[in-house]
Amino acid sequence: MTTDANTYAMDEAVGETRLDRGTQGVLGKPLNRYEGALKVSGRAPYAYEHLAGEDVAYGFMVTAGIGRAKIRSVDTSKAEAAPGVLTVISGDDVLRASALPMAPAAQTIDGEVFHYGQPLALVVAETFEAARHAATLVETLYEPGQGRYSLRDQLDEAVNPGPGAMQPDNLRGEFEAVFAEAEVQFDETYTTPSHSAAAMEPHASVAKWDGDNLTVWSSCQLLETNVIQIANGVGVPVENVRLLSPYVGGGFGSKLGIGPDAVLAALGAKAAGKPVKVALSRQHVFQTTSRRSETIQRVRIGTTKEGRITALAHENFVVNSTGNSFFEPVAISTVFLYAGENRKITHRLAETDVLMTASVRAPGEAVGMLSLESAMDELAIRLDLDPIEFRKLNEPEVAPQDDLPFSSRKLLQCYEEGASRFGWQNRPEKPASRREGEWWIGSGMAAASRSHQLMKSSAEVELAPDGRATVRTAMTDIGTGSYTILQQITAEMLGLPPGHVTVLLGDTALPPSSGSGGSWGANSAGSSVYLACEDLVRELAKRLDVDPSDLTLKDGQAIAGNRQIPLGEILGGETLTGRGTIEPGKTAETTNQASYGAHFCEVAVNAVTGETRVRRLLTVAAAGRILNEKTATSQCYGGQIWGIGSALEEELVIDPRTGLLVNHDLAEYHVPVNADVPQLEVVFLEERDTAASLLAGKGLGELALAGVGAAITNAIYNACGVRVRDYPATLDKVL
Ligand code: MOS
Repeated sequence: MTTDANTYAMDEAVGETRLDRGTQGVLGKPLNRYEGALKVSGRAPYAYEHLAGEDVAYGFMVTAGIGRAKIRSVDTSKAEAAPGVLTVISGDDVLRASALPMAPAAQTIDGEVFHYGQPLALVVAETFEAARHAATLVETLYEPGQGRYSLRDQLDEAVNPGPGAMQPDNLRGEFEAVFAEAEVQFDETYTTPSHSAAAMEPHASVAKWDGDNLTVWSSCQLLETNVIQIANGVGVPVENVRLLSPYVGGGFGSKLGIGPDAVLAALGAKAAGKPVKVALSRQHVFQTTSRRSETIQRVRIGTTKEGRITALAHENFVVNSTGNSFFEPVAISTVFLYAGENRKITHRLAETDVLMTASVRAPGEAVGMLSLESAMDELAIRLDLDPIEFRKLNEPEVAPQDDLPFSSRKLLQCYEEGASRFGWQNRPEKPASRREGEWWIGSGMAAASRSHQLMKSSAEVELAPDGRATVRTAMTDIGTGSYTILQQITAEMLGLPPGHVTVLLGDTALPPSSGSGGSWGANSAGSSVYLACEDLVRELAKRLDVDPSDLTLKDGQAIAGNRQIPLGEILGGETLTGRGTIEPGKTAETTNQASYGAHFCEVAVNAVTGETRVRRLLTVAAAGRILNEKTATSQCYGGQIWGIGSALEEELVIDPRTGLLVNHDLAEYHVPVNADVPQLEVVFLEERDTAASLLAGKGLGELALAGVGAAITNAIYNACGVRVRDYPATLDKVL
């Protein structure tokens, strides 16, 4: 039987739930990711591996080798005549299709190149090699245009993204007047470079037509919006498209939208009359998907002599390409992290003719806290205060922009726990005061915070007569552990061993899900699974004629009063389906919701070469209920490592003459490797946030990246007395 849909809006904090009983004892446990064995043994197919062994063709993109330009001609005749080539598609349809969803005003793209690397054509051939070779035979003629490639040159043209923006101007009190009169004034400007998401699995798609119906396997984070983007790009009704993305090798924001591969594979398959596979090369991934905006950030903080913040400004310039309204919400955490009555927090968006910018892991905090947390350190030193004491002095009681209460906030506890575990009191007090041979040794710390969001998400859980459960939701697992935590939630709710729960994800034929993004996935998809399980529990209780709260489920048995009955017996041969939909509700407007943490870092800086080695890195985090200690810890390791990258290495270099992303591969775009990463430590504080989600958890994935880079540059200052405000802190800037 099937119960009615069960929709729940998060309008108030929930009380204790079945999860708090912990009867089965599996939620929160450090279970291994159950698809892990499939992944390492090649049995978890990534997008490109579908339709293995079938009669398919291969597509390879031709991209623009010029910045802003008009296209005079694209001559595909030599490519079409090359061995093994089935067809070459090009022209305005291809320009529009491959620009979606990147250019909302897609019609203006006709005949034009908007950025270096823009897709121009797709060669479809019998083999990948034949397609790649023939792509080199396509001849393009351009009329070069006047391009804008540098943010710094466009500052005068930058605009306010508007009141509907994700981060509207946050103005309170009289910033300028109060800052001008402040006893202590801090005013510094920081720059952060463009970043690439550089997920391990390149964007790739396989498209297959069956009459008017299209099936696409692609590497995606948000299936519900991605399937609409594909349908719009191809020009078919969304009902005709099924999108599958069962396993994803990382996204980091670059797969929140589709890549050009998805629509081009579909158009190529139509033209070739057979399924087509398109994988982006690593260079294509860098040059044709999306990137993080470079930023220029001015931070001004006015304090009393004792260190109380009276005025706080964080003014930011970011870029995107024409027609794209997304902007890096740099100051997303500055808005609520520290007290200060007079505030001015703004973003201005400039246009350049470079690859579009979009969300890259921890959009906002990842770069905004590089500056804010460096500024807090520098100002603490100027005030002769311990950086932790300075932060404690400015801990707000309510959110300083709108006086909303915090749903939960254990930031001070994170500082305390971190300081004691790290041995903060033993750090060098003065810069350049501890030396080991050639190396200066120093320590630094920074706060971490990440806004919490809950998104609408639906799930179905089926309980079969054999006492096994199946979870169905179009959620994705981008390497984060979605399969495993949804299994754990179901096992805990229904009293089953985790191995008796199968989780099916990544298919638009399943109930629509929040997908993976913005650190909302675990709590959003998880809350919908919780509701679907609750739906089943109610039905089981009804059949036993007991109140659900008097029903205990454990090890496949229902226990009520002195009765203990196997689930299979209650089902009587029937399969039950529970359904649940979670929606954000009033708690999102009546409380300020965020996860918090603190980073502590020790570095060694080479006095001869300027090289920085991170020696120790500790993160203490409070993010509500932790659903799986191992996957949560791994998420934080990822954040810490990315933090090392953004502090010391990562920088997408933009050619100021063409907008070419010069270092468009993993040989030239430096990310930390094992030799750059010390033993990492992550500690979670016990916390429940019952206003944030039905699971009492908050977003975690991106938290550990927020602020960690500043802990590293603060440690560099403590080690050698050099303050780097132009990220990354490469050797030349530290020497
Ligand atoms: Mo995240 S940048 O929302 O994948």
